[in-house]
Amino acid sequence: MSDAAIVFDQVHKRFGDFTALAGFSERVGKNEVIVLCGPSGSGKSTLVRTVNRLETLQGGRVLVHGQDVAERTVNVDVLRRGIGFVFQQYNLFPHLSAIDNVAIGLRRLLGQQKDSAADQALALLARVGLKEKAHRRPSGLSGGEQQRVAIARALAMKPAILLFDEPTSALDPQMAGEVRSIISSLADDDMTIMCVTHDMGLAASMADRVWFLEGGALVESAAPGDFVRSENPRVRNFLSKILPH
Ligand SMILES: Nc1ncnc2c1ncn2[C@@H]1O[C@H](COP(=O)(O)OP(=O)(O)OP(=O)(O)O)[C@@H](O)[C@H]1O
Ligand SMILES: [Mg+2]
Repeated sequence: MSDAAIVFDQVHKRFGDFTALAGFSERVGKNEVIVLCGPSGSGKSTLVRTVNRLETLQGGRVLVHGQDVAERTVNVDVLRRGIGFVFQQYNLFPHLSAIDNVAIGLRRLLGQQKDSAADQALALLARVGLKEKAHRRPSGLSGGEQQRVAIARALAMKPAILLFDEPTSALDPQMAGEVRSIISSLADDDMTIMCVTHDMGLAASMADRVWFLEGGALVESAAPGDFVRSENPRVRNFLSKILPH
């Protein structure tokens, strides 16, 4: 167990009478890249949210680097600092420039001085191709550019784990392509990644494994090339809806 970055051990999550996760058990290796897909309501977002303790469980445990995230001794702020989270809505501070959106965490959470935080933020924006637009506010950036700022902001904490929840689904194809290439470039870094996406191009370019969920349970886990050739009828039915013919 010790070499796993994340362990899901019989994870049960209910919302009222509705079971969102039905005893989910799997493990994610260190620096492994997992893409999650499956029909709407299958529990993908809920599963990813259990990793940084955004959901309380009715049963089971989630271990991050061997530590049960629900334990009372866990400092949630420290846990979340080590786990970057990028989702569909970029949630940038609208009144701050791109560089300040990235630098604010470095200053507030890591206690860095203004100048060094700004230098580091600029380097991170350069990495996502936004050096020239560092001083614009979110309203002056396209959706894809805002998402790239959100990725730079997540990277600023040097997280060991990065979670994405449909990072490209609000973007038009060109912007999605720019974000896709940045996300897949992260897969080569020393980072464990879980990414919810129906973008099989993104899955092919970065995933070690694709997990297919249905009804809060794992139906299939396979390398991307094998996944798109799966003979499981539920997977085939799902792929027939999302893949171009
Ligand atoms: N806070 C909540 N209260 C009640 N029900 C919830 C809550 N969050 C999620 N659910 C329900 O749990 C189920 C799983 O939700 P989840 O968001 O994990 O699905 P998903 O696979 O991410 O779907 P999508 O592809 O639509 O994003 C859904 O049926 C949803 O309605
Ligand atoms: Mg979701």
